Amino acid sequence: MKTAVIPLGLLSCLLMLAACSNESDQSSPAAKDPDWQRGRGIFVANCVACHNIDPAKDGPIGPAIKGSPKELLEARVLRNGYPANYTPKRPTKVMPQFPFLKDEIPYLAAYLRSDSAHKTN
Ligand code: HEC
Repeated sequence: MKTAVIPLGLLSCLLMLAACSNESDQSSPAAKDPDWQRGRGIFVANCVACHNIDPAKDGPIGPAIKGSPKELLEARVLRNGYPANYTPKRPTKVMPQFPFLKDEIPYLAAYLRSDSAHKTN
């Protein structure tokens, strides 16, 4: 797998953002949901190198993925495909597969579906 090269400054910036948002997220109702918490951890650890820490926005490489249903996440993350009849946001095939996340899809979906997935203020 080809890894994305991210300047160290940007990376620490992202990590700081993650830390900050974690604090503000604690006050939202979704933050008390353990599924949401787990999904958020998985997202931050595996996805924010390319997708925005705020899933509602486009990231440096990947598109916005907020509200992605379980079927889409499963197809994309595990098989590098798309559900039947789904029109991808991008025609490219840049994203790698993450087969080791097979048990985490429901948590990712819980996190991405939540209204309070991220607060930018
Ligand atoms: C190496 C960069 C990279 C990483 C890491 C990455 N993605 Fe992506 N993702 C992309 C790109 C680029 C696209 C656009 C399609 C393509 O080129 O593969 C995409 C597309 C998607 C889509 C489809 C969006 C749509 O509606 O068409 C979903 C869902 C998605 N990513 C979820 C995730 C999740 C969840 C993770 C973490 C487990 C993740 N991605 C990690 C780069 C990445």
